[in-house]
Amino acid sequence: MSKIEFLDLGMQPIANNFLSSVSDIKNEYKFRLAVTFDDDTKLVSLSNFVSPDLMFNDSYVYHSSLSKTMRSHFKDAALSFLKDYSPEKVLEIGSNDGVFLKNFSSKRSTAIGVEPCSNFANITRDLGYATYDKFWNNQLAKEIVLNHGKQDLIFSANCICHIQNLDEAFSAISKTMSSTGIFVFEDPSLLSMINRRSYDQIYDEHAHIFSIIALRNLLDKHDLSIFKVQSLKVHGGSNRIFVCHKGVRSIEESVSEIISKEIDAGLNTIDAYRRFAYDVEKSKRQLLDIIHELKRKNYKIISYGATSKSTTVFNYCGIGTNLIDYIVDTTPAKHGKLSPGAHIPVISPEEGFNDTVDYAFLGAWNYENEICEKERKFLKKNRFITHVPYVRFIK
Ligand code: TMP
Repeated sequence: MSKIEFLDLGMQPIANNFLSSVSDIKNEYKFRLAVTFDDDTKLVSLSNFVSPDLMFNDSYVYHSSLSKTMRSHFKDAALSFLKDYSPEKVLEIGSNDGVFLKNFSSKRSTAIGVEPCSNFANITRDLGYATYDKFWNNQLAKEIVLNHGKQDLIFSANCICHIQNLDEAFSAISKTMSSTGIFVFEDPSLLSMINRRSYDQIYDEHAHIFSIIALRNLLDKHDLSIFKVQSLKVHGGSNRIFVCHKGVRSIEESVSEIISKEIDAGLNTIDAYRRFAYDVEKSKRQLLDIIHELKRKNYKIISYGATSKSTTVFNYCGIGTNLIDYIVDTTPAKHGKLSPGAHIPVISPEEGFNDTVDYAFLGAWNYENEICEKERKFLKKNRFITHVPYVRFIK
């Protein structure tokens, strides 16, 4: 058998499906969140996929532009691509609120977006970028090539790992990319997830968590080559992967360097994943121990950042309003709602992040530096709690 399930995180809701009221609880969609290793391709994927329409629709709430870290991340990325590759035609798959596209002015290049969540597609359309509110597939690729020609840079951030049928996605990319064009995508790194025991990278949207080993196997079938890989700090450790048509560019050392690290960590064998599953259970027990202990001492505990990741943690660990009073988050669309599955109220930091709080679970641990910098006053007296890379307090 080539597919081996190694981790079961139990029944989970759609990680970004914040509920408007208690009456929505009875209809809340749940599925078994489990993870599988494919011994042939070495790809790590969810055992059960959720229908894309349930996750990506016009109620989608994740705004890339809301974080300072992500705004400067995408600006730097766009400027470096313009400098190094001078693309004239740019396409972004999963363009969200335009945080990347905005850096391409019409004078230097044409940029178009693909974004199935129409609330976000409307934002980039209003900014003047042609935007297709459709899912990426062969049919859309054909339409784009017909309307705009082949593309010199196809960019995608935190989106390719959402696509269940990777064979079709890569085939469509190969047909849309100009002969000397590049496809650059960034997604959470499997190596970082395993090393940091950040099991909360696993949720419905992340249909796959990529190693470079697996991607090389999958892209090869479509005559596409990875020619460069950059390790990124964002989203708790990601890879930026540069791809071209086979034989068009020389393969840089960064590719074999990262593959060696992945092999050293055992990402090509099931054993590493079994060890990871053991560590995840341990992390759950430790997190529950410290939260229960603080609660026994009557401390007020809240959560900071209503993230998709915290949905996985709360539902896997059974943490609800019994332990966490509420969640503060900067996203206006989440305010007044209940968190998926755990049903913890979400309010704005202005309303809830005040002197009454003793401890805050850092749901947005991937922004630890940005948040600790911003919340220096809180940290003078109080502590954040995180489970990454192990359960601990942040002073
Ligand atoms: P992400 O981990 O998927 O990027 O989501 C980050 C969430 O955390 C998003 O809902 C915004 C929220 N957040 C805050 O509430 N405060 C902050 O300072 C930061 C950086 C993020």
